[in-house]
Amino acid sequence: MFKIAVLPGDGIGPEVIEEGLKVLSAIEDKYKLKFDVKKYPFGGEAIDKYGVPYPEETKNACLSSDAVLLGAVGGHKWDDLEGDKRPEAGLLALRKSLGVYANLRPAVLYPPLKEASPLKNELLQEGLDILVVRELTGGIYFGPRGTVAIDYGFKAYDTEVYQTSEIERIAVIAFEAALKRKKKVTSVDKANILDSSRLWRKTVEEISKRYPDVELNHMYVDNCAMQLIKNPSQFDVILTSNMFGDILSDEASQLTGSIGMLPSASLREDKVGLYEPIHGSAPDIAGTKKANPLATILSVAMMLEYSFDLIDAANDIKDAVNKVLEAGYRTFDLGKGIILNTQEMGDKVVEYVKG
Ligand code: NAD
Ligand code: IPM
Ligand code: MN
Repeated sequence: MFKIAVLPGDGIGPEVIEEGLKVLSAIEDKYKLKFDVKKYPFGGEAIDKYGVPYPEETKNACLSSDAVLLGAVGGHKWDDLEGDKRPEAGLLALRKSLGVYANLRPAVLYPPLKEASPLKNELLQEGLDILVVRELTGGIYFGPRGTVAIDYGFKAYDTEVYQTSEIERIAVIAFEAALKRKKKVTSVDKANILDSSRLWRKTVEEISKRYPDVELNHMYVDNCAMQLIKNPSQFDVILTSNMFGDILSDEASQLTGSIGMLPSASLREDKVGLYEPIHGSAPDIAGTKKANPLATILSVAMMLEYSFDLIDAANDIKDAVNKVLEAGYRTFDLGKGIILNTQEMGDKVVEYVKG
């Protein structure tokens, strides 16, 4: 029996997680499976209850599970806490403790959402299917940082650090993924400025020699941000660092209609994974039932695929999402259509999963 630790978190986190779990139980019924699903406090909710964002009980549960499903964390209430005490610090600790260094963020345009994309239709002729492979447990998120008093005010610093082995293993993930797709990797860096990027580029070049069938090109991150809008169909797999991947995946998500559409899987060598929508806790819409649960529902599909090898079940969810959108149902972030609230959208997906 697969064991799943569920961390609903803050803001819209618990709202979208509820819908993800609904769909998971529809899959249980359909395929006569039984998942062991338990919720644990995490993020701001855990700070309020236990004073820390990633309590021991939650950590033990996550470390002994087959998969972790996360909503989102953070909110204004905790914004003034010191950096290492914030909900977001708990998220970094979670990723690090699980060792999930490979964050896959598929930016896929579901055909019925063409009108919801801000791109002109002519740019979407070939559809849009980009896999952002984001390094997740290194880089500037984890390098030395600090704030020190100086003569006038303060000096604050954060450090981008990458070592060869970290770049190699994420590059392998990107090339392997490309082999199963259009066989193209675009490695994104800032090698015209940063030493860490020059090591990144050199290391990716070395790994690429093992993959003669995969085309590799390099692109500076500023150009990539622009090219995503100018000509998104040039991309297949985007391989990049923790910070650049964070930014570029939010940008890519909007090309697919909304950030509320983008799921993610964070993986390591074995089958254990962390699954979460790429969006945050959206305090501006929390409690209004406006949150789009599809990113979380699609994260459940990624969990079924990557951690449990339940490919048919994963495809059922993706098909159901497409059918729901084809039938004209939308959450408010997706523009015109039959507007549903968060729960109604979850119910619709369940209806189509059942078939
Ligand atoms: P956000 O992703 O929460 O929201 C950005 C914008 O997108 C908002 O206008 C929001 O309403 C909208 N949005 C996000 N998800 C949506 C959904 N499912 N449906 C419809 N609209 C959606 O980013 P932010 O506002 O910069 O950050 C809010 C808080 O979330 C901060 O505390 C931040 O640190 C945290 N955050 C957490 C995670 C995470 O837990 N993985 C990710 C990003 C941000
Ligand atoms: C994300 C978020 C997180 C990140 C924050 C909340 C730590 O933006 O998952 O994309 O930057 O990784
Ligand atoms: Mn982000």
